[in-house]
Amino acid sequence: MDNNDKEKISIAVVKRLPRYYRYLGDLLEHGITRISSNDLSRRMNVTASQIRQDLNKFGCFGQRGYGYNVEMLYNEIKKILGLDREYSLIIIGAGNLGQALANYSNFKKRGFNFIGIFDINPEIIGKKVGNLIIQNVDGLENFLKENKVDIAVLSIPKTNAPQISPILVNNGVKGIWNFSHIDLKTPNNVIVENAHLTDSVMTLSYKISEIENIEQSE
Ligand code: NAI
Repeated sequence: MDNNDKEKISIAVVKRLPRYYRYLGDLLEHGITRISSNDLSRRMNVTASQIRQDLNKFGCFGQRGYGYNVEMLYNEIKKILGLDREYSLIIIGAGNLGQALANYSNFKKRGFNFIGIFDINPEIIGKKVGNLIIQNVDGLENFLKENKVDIAVLSIPKTNAPQISPILVNNGVKGIWNFSHIDLKTPNNVIVENAHLTDSVMTLSYKISEIENIEQSE
């Protein structure tokens, strides 16, 4: 698949790919080498037609009577998600969230390596989080000049995020994983992905209300 094909995959499909990737990874770990869309559908609780539609979009056609080759599909999704390489990350803001992220070992397994963590608070600068020492954010610019950093995680209060963003942009960071509740303006070649846990819980509350409304109207 070339990059032109890649552009045709809608964001809605891209958002579903990590889940496919996780399930396929589990199957591989359990030695399952092929799977039908019906079987995958049962395991993932997604309709088989949705699976076929999603996977056909990037040229992964299951074969009638054979299903999908799990390893091929896993590797194709890995490539599409850009997981066939390693990323170096830093965290700005070593508070509750920053430390929780730094301590979550699954990122490393997926090729996301934290190489630095920064904060403004002198009381925590110099302390250890996971295998990183919290550094003074004053040294951020130098650090970026000396180390190749692909992704910066922003876990600082929203009022401080706009000052940090240009330092990241001007020093080669390609993506910002933004937990601060503010929309950041960056040039087109620096991607910002906003992550809001509250969005997820609001989706949950929507689904709960939907079921309650149905039950009340019955
Ligand atoms: P926290 O108060 O525990 O940590 C924030 C840290 O940022 C502190 O250690 C503080 O010293 C540091 N900081 C402030 N300005 C800084 C700067 N200019 N450079 C470097 N470090 C700086 O707060 P917590 O719970 O870790 O949350 C961090 C931010 O993330 C908050 O703004 C919060 O609203 C947001 N948040 C977002 C979530 C989401 O799902 N998007 C979930 C949880 C928190």
